[in-house]
Amino acid sequence: MADILTVNGGSPLVGDLEVRGAKNLVSKAMVAALLAEGPCRLRNVPEISDVKIVSGLLELHGVKIDSTDRDGELLLDPTNVEQAHVADIDAHAGSSRVPVLLCGPLLHRLGEAFIPDLGGCRIGERPINYHLDVLRQFGADVQKRPEGLRLTAPDGLKGTRIQLPYPSVGATEQVLLTAVRAQGVTELRNAAVEPEILDLIAVLQKMGAIISVETDRVIKIEGVDRLGGYDHRAIPDRIEAGSWACAALATRGDVYVRGAQQLAMMPFLNVFRKIGGDFDVDDEGIRFWHAGGTLNSLVLETDVHPGFMTDWQQPLVVALTQTTGLSIVHETVYENRLGFTEALGEMGAVVQLYRECLGGSPCRFGRANFRHSAVISGPTPLRGAEITVPDLRGGFSYLIAALAAEGQSKVHGIELIYRGYERFSEKLDALGADYQVG
Ligand code: EPU
Repeated sequence: MADILTVNGGSPLVGDLEVRGAKNLVSKAMVAALLAEGPCRLRNVPEISDVKIVSGLLELHGVKIDSTDRDGELLLDPTNVEQAHVADIDAHAGSSRVPVLLCGPLLHRLGEAFIPDLGGCRIGERPINYHLDVLRQFGADVQKRPEGLRLTAPDGLKGTRIQLPYPSVGATEQVLLTAVRAQGVTELRNAAVEPEILDLIAVLQKMGAIISVETDRVIKIEGVDRLGGYDHRAIPDRIEAGSWACAALATRGDVYVRGAQQLAMMPFLNVFRKIGGDFDVDDEGIRFWHAGGTLNSLVLETDVHPGFMTDWQQPLVVALTQTTGLSIVHETVYENRLGFTEALGEMGAVVQLYRECLGGSPCRFGRANFRHSAVISGPTPLRGAEITVPDLRGGFSYLIAALAAEGQSKVHGIELIYRGYERFSEKLDALGADYQVG
């Protein structure tokens, strides 16, 4: 399929769509299957390329995977987990950040793990130092090789006390996936507590793990000797739901997102309402629409849960170009997640980036010279342009900008959007968007 979308923008998006399981839970629940002694069944799995990438990686390690059309069902059989060939794993290098999460489960199953260089979206340095520090604390030995990292656990993995320097989602998942089968108790402090992490904990508990989430970001895990399979329905993708909500607002439209859940989206819903969007929650989903009149600017800071997610930031910034006055966005999770605004400037948006922590409390990037605060002046009509998708969420934001803009846009590199947005062109059809592939 052509990697370009030609969009004739300027019309409101109106209609219904459905979001399925959260990308950032599904991939981790798939990895958890490596720890099981029996078959696992994950439901509500979206058809996105990240699922294919993780499936490929697990198949290389001997996991048998089948899918059916029934409720997006994925069946994972880890009975014959085996060491993959280094060259085969290496072929996955650059395509996902999930491989690092295989370390704990593979060390438990095989006593050895190999991890290629990691990819993922280019939204900051995205190091894996927390992951490696955590694995060493459990007793892993990490050797750097030219082609990646080789890990072994000569004395097995043992429960430990860990204090994360920052509530990293991936490092918290690393601890969970390693501690559940480590010998003894692990106490994790400064853990991330995103809804996707709690859903992963639910999966692990179904498998037989003993995990308690305590106050003040403390998680305790009592290691067990064996884990069984699971049957689990993934929580819906709140990032995708928020992205479509921003598309409704920026195009002055009205979109019903089946599957969207209020509890996981509360920080988003507050911001959406303050800007001048409206929403209505029912048992099946949430309807989002532009409430009419002018939209209001606001000051916003991204943060770990229960804050406003960094992954909502990029779609929201496009909607903020349509608000009246000056909006400030302070990105505190990634040091380099505002670069996508440059192309919005070519479309008529007025966005200035700053190195200072603007509008809120100082963050860890304040003295590090990163342009991580944005001031957006609006409202600015957007006009069509030729733009190239920079990363997954930035890419969806460009799609929103193209749909909101007067005239024609050509969006290059749409393949990247399929990493996290299931069948988005079918959803555009359902909302009456005017576009062609190519
Ligand atoms: N960090 C380190 N060292 C580490 C790990 C993280 O310095 O070893 C830093 C990162 O550089 C970043 C911050 O800690 O500045 C937070 O990173 P985190 O580990 O929380 O992110 P992640 O696990 O790599 C997941 C999602 C991201 C999402 C973040 C934050 C997956 C596959 N990815 O990434 O999703 O933005 O949590 O919620 O779950 C996306 O879906 O588009 C996406 C980028």
